[in-house]
Amino acid sequence: MTTRNIVLLPGDGIGPEVTKAVRTVLEGVSKGHDLSLAFESHAIGGCAIDACGDPFPDATAEACKKADAVFLGAVGGPQWDGGGPRPEAGLLALRQALGTFANLRPVRLFPGLEHLSPLKPERATGTDMLIVRELTGGIYFGAKEEGEQRASDLCAYSRHEVERVARIGFDAARSRSGRLTSVDKANVLASSRLWRKAVVALRDAEYPDIALDHVLVDAMAMKLIERPSAFDVILTENMFGDILSDEASVIAGSIGLAPSASLSESHGGLYEPIHGSAPDIAGEGKANPVGAILSGAMLLRHALGEEAAAAEIETAVARCLADGIGTADIGGSASTTGVAQAVCDRLRTPVTS
Ligand code: NAD
Ligand code: IPM
Ligand code: MN
Repeated sequence: MTTRNIVLLPGDGIGPEVTKAVRTVLEGVSKGHDLSLAFESHAIGGCAIDACGDPFPDATAEACKKADAVFLGAVGGPQWDGGGPRPEAGLLALRQALGTFANLRPVRLFPGLEHLSPLKPERATGTDMLIVRELTGGIYFGAKEEGEQRASDLCAYSRHEVERVARIGFDAARSRSGRLTSVDKANVLASSRLWRKAVVALRDAEYPDIALDHVLVDAMAMKLIERPSAFDVILTENMFGDILSDEASVIAGSIGLAPSASLSESHGGLYEPIHGSAPDIAGEGKANPVGAILSGAMLLRHALGEEAAAAEIETAVARCLADGIGTADIGGSASTTGVAQAVCDRLRTPVTS
């Protein structure tokens, strides 16, 4: 049995709490699947700044590049807002180092949990979308100017950057409903006009079977809460995807439920819940680990090709939620470790700690 090496980057705030939960569940599922997983942990973000002054130390970078997959908890917090190096820079450098250009952010309302949505049940029902967010280009990585009187961030995309992420979106659409909605701001931004042109040309050339439509990002923010079930695969650029995925996540009940997978052409990828370090609840055992645990399932599926183990975790999470076990953000009374244990108990081969 080949051992797969997983680098864990717990990070800051609730990051270490949800990372521990993921490890518990991955170790649990591996027992029933002839799967050998080796874990090593490294510093990133604020804790790395505190330890060595660098949010993405060389040792972390080297370990991540060598790993079969990387899991990240969260980075950031108010203690690093004072003007020195930023924890978030560590995460951006990591994404760039691994070349994780396509970020998959599924948002699904678990059956029976309609009451968790801030939307009326009749609006929330049927929410099951996949946001495909471009992750290594756009305004996040353009030239910056940071002065006291003037500051700027350049939003630039090359045709190649648009095409490679659009291909991921079209392939996902083909395996789902055959529909793809591309979100841009083509009425104002040149980068969005190139985005739209490149997406249309790719559909015409390689994906004529996919029904493609375009929605401007401001209208999309509205339509998402008006009728979320109207959308299946949503393809968009880096910053629009960041914003729309936080919005979409609460339709399913809580940002704490939302996972993600960041895919690369040259590496097994980076797996992280979409939430941040939640400084307001850090250290209290209140963090919802479901988004992190489902990111662990995506890691098994996309990085290791372990579809059965991934699906088993997803089924166990759904059963756990259907059984009313959850953290306070979804109206429950369980702790972070309590949820992880409840998920383990619902695996095909229950594991007791
Ligand atoms: P956040 O996602 O950390 O928190 C937003 C709200 O959601 C808070 O009320 C928080 O308590 C709640 N929340 C988030 N995750 C939760 C979970 N798992 N369970 C229960 N409740 C949860 O966003 P923020 O407050 O805007 O950012 C805090 C810090 O995190 C900032 O420094 C930001 O830069 C960073 N951040 C990091 C990542 C990442 O590492 N991937 C993502 C987003 C934000
Ligand atoms: C996310 C976060 C990050 C982003 C930050 C922390 C750099 O908000 O993963 O969604 O903006 O991509
Ligand atoms: Mn975000």
